[in-house]
Amino acid sequence: MLNRNDICWCGSGKKYKKCHMDFDKNLEKYEKQGFEIPERRLLLNEEDIEGLRKSSVITKGILEGVADLIKPGVTTNEIDKFVHDYTIERGGTPATLGYHGFPKSCCTSINEVICHGIPEDRPLKEGDIINVDVTTILDGYFSDASRMYLVGQVSERAKDLVQCAKDCLQIGLDQVKPYGSISDIGLAIEAYATSKGYTVVRDFGGHGIGKNFHEDPHVSHFDTGQKGMLMVPGMVFTIEPMINEGTYKLNILEDDWTAVTRDGKLSAQWEHTLVVTEEGYEILV
Ligand code: MF3
Ligand code: CO
Ligand code: CO
Repeated sequence: MLNRNDICWCGSGKKYKKCHMDFDKNLEKYEKQGFEIPERRLLLNEEDIEGLRKSSVITKGILEGVADLIKPGVTTNEIDKFVHDYTIERGGTPATLGYHGFPKSCCTSINEVICHGIPEDRPLKEGDIINVDVTTILDGYFSDASRMYLVGQVSERAKDLVQCAKDCLQIGLDQVKPYGSISDIGLAIEAYATSKGYTVVRDFGGHGIGKNFHEDPHVSHFDTGQKGMLMVPGMVFTIEPMINEGTYKLNILEDDWTAVTRDGKLSAQWEHTLVVTEEGYEILV
C-alpha cells in the first residue's frame, strides 16, 4: 500500500496522490462489483505504446504487401519468405518463427483451416480464401494482426463468410471502452455471428500482448457467462474472431498446429491489436 506522498508505482516519478491514487481507488470500486482487475504490469505506458506503434508499422506493411502477392499459383512458402524478408530488412523478428516449435514466419490458413496453418509448397488456387497472420517483434514489442485474402474469383458463400468475420471484428472493437467488461466483446460477436447462421470458434481467442506474444487477458469471442476483466487505459490486446460456416468444432492435424473445421466447411478470421485509451481504443495494427 502506497501513502499519498510516496512516489507512484507507474514510473512517472510523481507523488502517488498526484498520479495514480484516484485511479487505484476507482479500480477498487470495480473490484467490489466483481470485475477481474488487470495486473499493473498489463497497463503499458506511453513509451511502450510508442514501441508498439513502431512494431505495428512493420506488421501493417506486411499485410498490405501480401495483398499484391495473392494470386493462383503462389505458394504459401512464397508468402512466408516475403513476410520473413520484409521483417528482417526492417530490423524486426517474426514472432512465430520457433515459437513453441512453429517453423515459419507467419500462419497461412486456407479455406477449412481455422488458424495456425503452416506455410508450405501448396499453391493457392482460384476460389480459395486465405488468412495470413503476422506477428512482428521490434525492440521487444509484439504486434499481431491478420486479414483474409480472396484468390481470384471466389464464391458468394465464401465472400459472405469473410465479410461476416470482418464485421465481427468491428463489432468486437465497438465494445472496447475504458471501464467496460472484456466479456462484452464475445457477447456481441457471438450474437452477430449466430444471427447470420454462422458459429464462433471456442478453442482459440484473442489475448493480451505487448512485451510478450500471449498475455492476460484471454479475449473470448463468445459468451462465457463470466463478468470478465475490466478494460483499463493502457491495456493492449487482440481481437481475432474465427467464424465458421458449419460447426465450431475443430481438429488439430498431425503437424500439431493446423486447426481445421471438423466438418470441412469454411472458416474466416480477421485480427487487430489495440490499446485501450481514456476515450475508447486505438488500433495499433
Ligand atoms: N498470430 C497468432 C495469434 O493471433 C498466433 C500464432 S502462434 C503460431 O495469436 F505459433 F502458430 F504461429
Ligand atoms: Co493474436
Ligand atoms: Co495473430
